[in-house]
Amino acid sequence: MTLAELENAKAESLKEIAAAADAAAIEALRVKYVGRNGSIPALIKAMKDVPKEERPAFGKAVQAWRAEVEAALAAKGGGAGPSEKEVDADLTLPGRWWGLGVKHPLSRVIEESAAIFARLGFTVADGPELENRFNNFTALNTPEHHPSQDRTDTFWFGEDCLLRTQTSPVQIRTMMENKPPIRVICPGRTYRRDTTDATHSANFHQIEGLYVDTKPVSLADLKSVLAYFAKEMMGDGVTVRFRPHFFPFTEPSVEVDFTCHVCKGKGCNVCKQSGWIEVAGAGMVDPRVFGHVGYDAEKVSGYAFGFGVERIAMIKYGIPDIRWLYENDVRFLNQLG
Ligand code: PHE
Repeated sequence: MTLAELENAKAESLKEIAAAADAAAIEALRVKYVGRNGSIPALIKAMKDVPKEERPAFGKAVQAWRAEVEAALAAKGGGAGPSEKEVDADLTLPGRWWGLGVKHPLSRVIEESAAIFARLGFTVADGPELENRFNNFTALNTPEHHPSQDRTDTFWFGEDCLLRTQTSPVQIRTMMENKPPIRVICPGRTYRRDTTDATHSANFHQIEGLYVDTKPVSLADLKSVLAYFAKEMMGDGVTVRFRPHFFPFTEPSVEVDFTCHVCKGKGCNVCKQSGWIEVAGAGMVDPRVFGHVGYDAEKVSGYAFGFGVERIAMIKYGIPDIRWLYENDVRFLNQLG
């Protein structure tokens, strides 16, 4: 191509661009002139065949052509056009769907519980999973000969280090660090040397609650709070019943049943015809526990309760086997999303 031919080609190209009627036409001209295989890049590639002495003038003219074509395209809204990569992609194809995860049922129960108790003024307290003997047992009025302290029941690491068997040590920590009134829930992971079967796992989750105040706190307060929780968590018509029990750290102690949420108390397979489902342990904080954390048991009173997160999740979502909660099979988890 001579310089004169180049000038002609340039004039022709600018005329074509000026006449282009729509975006598709502009894009076609961009490809024709400045695209990867367009005529201007072809000329640049062919530069080596131009006689040496003509090369500078020719090169300048090609660059000028390119600049004018790009300016003309830009003026018509074509810009420099998409990059070569973008041109290769088919923008009309649907995107790739990686799938949305769902919140794990245990996280949902914990978060929902925290929200329910927050409406009653409870905050969330946290603590370590590795505990010492004092926080997990001694302060909770559990003597050394108690079977729960045994090596066959608890995971010990040396004399004074264990995987907490309950989240109650968080309540001890909270009381030692704060003055009453205290209103906390302590959700978290706990460990026991249980053989794993359909309803037991060596590692599970608890939510314990603690209310301590300088004004008298009663068992009736405890019952009303748990009744509210039952209704919010399981639905209307579900209420609570207390049965006498024993825990070293509460006196009196109770076991807490919810009305069966399936039959609403009439009796069905889920509740083994009793109309009730056991969900928690609770009671009035034993004065000896107050002594261990430096509170004056004459001046303060309070209640504590604790329930298993897996238990609530299994009842609420109708999950028959606790192990499903840990297998992370998305076919199971997605059903609860
Ligand atoms: N910590 C008890 C348990 O793990 C539950 C509980 C908590 C009972 C608070 C009474 C009061 O079984």
